[in-house]
Amino acid sequence: MIRLIEKLENGQRLCEREFQQLIENRTPELAALLAEKAVGARNGVYGHRVFLRGLVEFTNYCKNDCYYCGLRCSNWAAQRYRLTEAEILECCREGHRLGFRTFVLQGGEDPLYTPQRIRDLVYKIKKEFPDCALTLSVGEHPREVYQSWFDAGADRYLLRHETADPAHYQMLHPHAMSLENRMRCLTDLKEIGYQVGCGFMVGSPGQTGAHIARDLCFIQEFQPHMVGIGPFIPQKDTPFGGEPAGTLELTVYLLSIIRLMLPEVLLPATTALGTIHPRGREQGIAAGANVCMPNLSPLSVRKKYAIYDNKICTGDEAAECIQCLRRRIESVGCEMVTDRGDHAQMKG
Ligand code: SAM
Ligand code: SF4
Ligand code: FES
Repeated sequence: MIRLIEKLENGQRLCEREFQQLIENRTPELAALLAEKAVGARNGVYGHRVFLRGLVEFTNYCKNDCYYCGLRCSNWAAQRYRLTEAEILECCREGHRLGFRTFVLQGGEDPLYTPQRIRDLVYKIKKEFPDCALTLSVGEHPREVYQSWFDAGADRYLLRHETADPAHYQMLHPHAMSLENRMRCLTDLKEIGYQVGCGFMVGSPGQTGAHIARDLCFIQEFQPHMVGIGPFIPQKDTPFGGEPAGTLELTVYLLSIIRLMLPEVLLPATTALGTIHPRGREQGIAAGANVCMPNLSPLSVRKKYAIYDNKICTGDEAAECIQCLRRRIESVGCEMVTDRGDHAQMKG
């Protein structure tokens, strides 16, 4: 196993079988070694800096029906909301006052938020905040749509691939969705010039070590700028409501592997990680993560963006979360920064 870790450290590629060995033979000692090397790799590129992104969850309407997600269209128990353009801009203003220089607009695939409306919104946000980076995370769209948003000023796009295994993908999604289209979207986004994030849930129903090895191979191949991984957490009104959640232990182990494989990657310690364990995000940072994404959405809608159960920070003002996060980040020897925090190769 040490040999595999050294290979990763030296920038050599691992094959699927080697990734699988690394996952299936993990021990607390190996995890500690990987975390130490991952933190060294991160600090070599970004120092001890952890970047903040202001997240605006602007709609929880979604036309898709992913089996794992509380926003799926078949979930009649979900209380739906949609922020107006004016409300979204107000969230960004508040974020800007608090020091944020990256905004992430995330939502379900809401048919009423048409490509044109999103394009206008991107344009307005970039016009009012030219010093900020804008990230979109609004699912699968035709290439022309991605291009129009990029032309309007969007800088980055988050679209987790969810699983790189076609059969597993089909277990997690209805037939209307396909891994092929997900991958087409990721390729288009990269070719257009976005800083792109892919990723997957750890411990999603049916996931095996072989699946995760395949995910890591895909990430190695695709070379994304960002990777979003967090534990799967059941949402009670979905078909997977009774499934067990992913673990902190495996998630942080994978964060370290991804950091070592891509030293320059922007790697969030996700809210889901903070939800399954009180110090989950801190442990993620101590394993090599370097991004946190506090919520800027109005308090009145926070609880309604219920992709999974018991989500943290739904009752706290953004300003309170920032203070809380600062303490948490400093508790593991890092420094919280609010600047744009571009990928090391995409600055200027
Ligand atoms: N609709 C967009 C999309 O799917 O890319 C963006 C919003 S979606 C809620 C963002 C991410 O939430 C998904 O990529 C998925 O990995 C994650 N997610 C959904 N349900 C989850 C669950 N039950 N536990 C953990 N993460 C979940
Ligand atoms: Fe919609 Fe995204 Fe949830 Fe799937 S994961 S149901 S696309 S919000
Ligand atoms: Fe939101 Fe602690 S980070 S309350």
